[in-house]
Amino acid sequence: MEALHPDVEKVLFTEDDIKEIVSRLGKQITEDYAGKDLVLIAVLRGAVVFMGDLMRTIESPLAIDFMAVSSYGDGTKSSGVVRIVKDLDMDIKGRDVLIVEDILDSGLTLKYLMKSLSHRQPASLEVAAFLWKDVKGRTTAVNPKYVGAHCPDEFVVGYGLDFAERYRNLPFVGVLKPEVYS
Ligand code: IMP
Ligand code: MG
Repeated sequence: MEALHPDVEKVLFTEDDIKEIVSRLGKQITEDYAGKDLVLIAVLRGAVVFMGDLMRTIESPLAIDFMAVSSYGDGTKSSGVVRIVKDLDMDIKGRDVLIVEDILDSGLTLKYLMKSLSHRQPASLEVAAFLWKDVKGRTTAVNPKYVGAHCPDEFVVGYGLDFAERYRNLPFVGVLKPEVYS
């Protein structure tokens, strides 16, 4: 049993769970992108941990690049209006782009990003989300091609996911104790 961080109420995905999830995704992506010109794009900062693990499970050739966005407004809900703070270094025209995301909530941030990237004429543009908070009665703005796992509608941290820039380094995904953010 892993040592539980004092601010974490319960663990949703252990290190072993995560390993299994990521290797399943990597296998699928390896098959699907055989012979293609794959570029993985991670959105900073949350997706870096997943990106680092996922890229090592993909056996086909690939390139990686990063983007950083900042949402207008504050709080824990996204508005969908984002500003690109760090753009890609790479030209994605004619390439097969897979956006690597830590967690898909409303999907509004990604929807905006995908619209912007699609103007650059990639050959294909898809999403791999480690977690999908698919809340009943709500539709997500983006349909991910690859989903690691479904996540309950709770605030989770670890494996890249933060609260106020903390907890990204936890090797598992867990639910934060409410008293930490209230
Ligand atoms: P969306 O635009 O609503 O899909 O917001 C997605 C982004 O919000 C993710 O990339 C995360 O940075 C953040 N986010 C959403 N839910 C959580 C959570 O439970 N924990 C930590 N970050 C989250
Ligand atoms: Mg994020």
